[in-house]
Parts: sequence; structure tokens; C-alpha cells
Amino acid sequence: MRDGVTARSAVPPAAAAEVVARVVDNLESAVRAPRETLELSVLVLVAEGHLIVEDFPGVGKTVLAKSLARSLHLSFSRVQFTPDLLPTDVTGVNVFNQQTNAFEFRPGPVFANVLLADEINRASPKTQSALLEAMQEAQVTVDGATYALEAPFLVVATQNPIEYEGTYPLPEAQLDRFTARLSLGYPPLAEEARMLQEQTTQPPLDRLEPVAGRADVLAAIEAAKSVYVEESVGRYVVALLRHTRASSLLALGASPRAGIALLRMAKARAVAAARDYVLPEDVQAVAEAVLAHRLIVAPEARAAGATAEEAVREALEQTPVPV
Ligand SMILES: Nc1ncnc2c1ncn2[C@@H]1O[C@H](COP(=O)(O)OP(=O)(O)OP(=O)(O)O)[C@@H](O)[C@H]1O
Ligand SMILES: [Mg+2]
Repeated sequence: MRDGVTARSAVPPAAAAEVVARVVDNLESAVRAPRETLELSVLVLVAEGHLIVEDFPGVGKTVLAKSLARSLHLSFSRVQFTPDLLPTDVTGVNVFNQQTNAFEFRPGPVFANVLLADEINRASPKTQSALLEAMQEAQVTVDGATYALEAPFLVVATQNPIEYEGTYPLPEAQLDRFTARLSLGYPPLAEEARMLQEQTTQPPLDRLEPVAGRADVLAAIEAAKSVYVEESVGRYVVALLRHTRASSLLALGASPRAGIALLRMAKARAVAAARDYVLPEDVQAVAEAVLAHRLIVAPEARAAGATAEEAVREALEQTPVPV
């Protein structure tokens, strides 16, 4: 089902940049959040990644995921993760059809371009790993048969940062599979007031129209893939990873997988700026969102109030930037 991706020739980054800008503009009309946050969510899509949103209830997580899907004319589905959710509730299940006297596959909610996985930490590890496998492989296996997921496939998983009671927090190895983490937070006062006004009259989401389509996303993905990375920039990414591994603030530094995600996001950002090569500033701009959630702060450093974000900033400050 991954059609349209292979036969495409080089896509000019300018066209992809225009699509990204249009989508971010559109998101801005429905989601009250900083533009950088909204752009980041689009970059994750262009980087063929997945997003984890850690935030309080009612701050616009669902609106963001829905708006993204609608802006790009992509299919959308949502799963509320609960302790009794089964892997097949996500992937789909074989059901017996009495007319044909055979089993047929009934696809689960994972068969969508944008899947909102709400409160992913509430599901059992078994169900979590079914989703994580789908994220990694872009396919699901049910009763021995494998089904490909249609590209693009973006999981927006949410976690509530305050309620850990009765949850199965994602182990670091699984968090590492998310390209970036972002939080929407509470909007500034004037924005929030405007949002309340809109929501109680005509919610912008109801009026949101597509501004691009699936083919545009696939083209942007291709454009990002062919972005050029100079050797010095590649080394810079590795130096950042190594800095986190040696940092006294951290008990666990960034993995090679984190490096891949960082470079993919930097390439997506280059495309969004209509460039066909990565600059160190692309890497710097996305580093915190890409790296922080994968790092474990050392107990002593945590006791002293250090955070993973700080460790990323420290790595950025202390790593020589290629010129
Ligand atoms: N930043 C925001 N921008 C636009 N609308 C918002 C924002 N925050 C909240 N809202 C509005 O508040 C309501 C709740 O938002 P939404 O359902 O997106 O929250 P949520 O973060 O998904 O909450 P939950 O954690 O309960 O799932 C919606 O009507 C939504 O339009
Ligand atoms: Mg929600």
C-alpha cells in the first residue's frame, strides 16, 4: 500500500516548503499554540516520525491531531488506551464471515494516516508494543498475516504528566521510538480568551479546510530524504549525542536511534526553509524536542533540580559548531 513513494524523482524543496507553511498557517487558525510547536508537529510528519505529546487534560492535544489530519486531507482515527485494551483492538482482528465461510480481516484503528493514541501509558505493555511495532515497521501482523500501513503514518501519542497512578509508563526504549516530544501548555491570556470566545460560538476546527493532500506530504517526505548533509554537520550530530552520553547530568545519554531522528528532523526543517542542505541551526532548533524525552537524568542531578532539557541545552552550548 506504500504507493507513490518509490517512483518519485527529486522534489524541489521550495514546493515542499510552501506546503509546510500553508499547513502551519492552517493549524494556527484552529490550535492556539506557539507557531514553533505547530511547525514541529508538521516536521515530524515530514520526517516520517511519530509524536508524543505530554500535557495536561484539555489543552488542545486532540484538536492538534485532528487539525493536522484535516489540513492534509488524511484519514484520522483515535484510540483511548485503557488497561483492558487488547493488541487486536489497535491492529484489527480476523472475524468469521458466515456468508463466505471464511475469516476476513477487519482492520483496526491503526489503519489511518494519523492515529491519535490517547493516554498510551494506560494500556498494558502488550498493547503498547503492538502499537510500537506498527510505528516501527509501518505494518501489522495478525494471525501470521502481514498488512502494510498506508504512508504517511503518524502516531500522535499522549501522556498525562500528572496522573501516574495505575499507568504503565513507557520504558525509555519505547520512548526512544518517538521522534519528538512536545507539549502545548496553556496559551497566553489573550489567546486563551480568544479561544474561549471561538469555542463557544463557532469552533475553528469545524470550519477547517484541507490546504494540501496526501501526495503533497509524500512529496515533502521525499524532498526531506534527499536533503544534503555535509560531513561536518553529520559529525556535529554525533558530537552532540556523545556529549549527552558523557554528561554528568545524565544516567542515560542519546542512542544512535536518537541521532537518526535528530538528523531526519533537521532535514525536514531544512526543507521547510526551502533549502536542500542542512545547517547546524536546523539541528539546534529541533534538538530539545527530539532528544530530551529519551534521556534519563542522573539521580543526584535530579535531586539538584536538573532536567533533561537542560542537559540538551548544555550539549548545544558546549559542542563546537561547524562553520
Ligand atoms: N490550545 C488550544 N487551541 C484550540 N482549542 C483548544 C486549545 N486548548 C483547548 N482547546 C479547546 O478545548 C477543548 C478541549 O480540547 P482538546 O479536546 O483538544 O483537549 P485534550 O488536550 O485532547 O484533552 P484530553 O487530555 O482530555 O484529551 C476543545 O473544545 C478545544 O477546542
Ligand atoms: Mg484529547
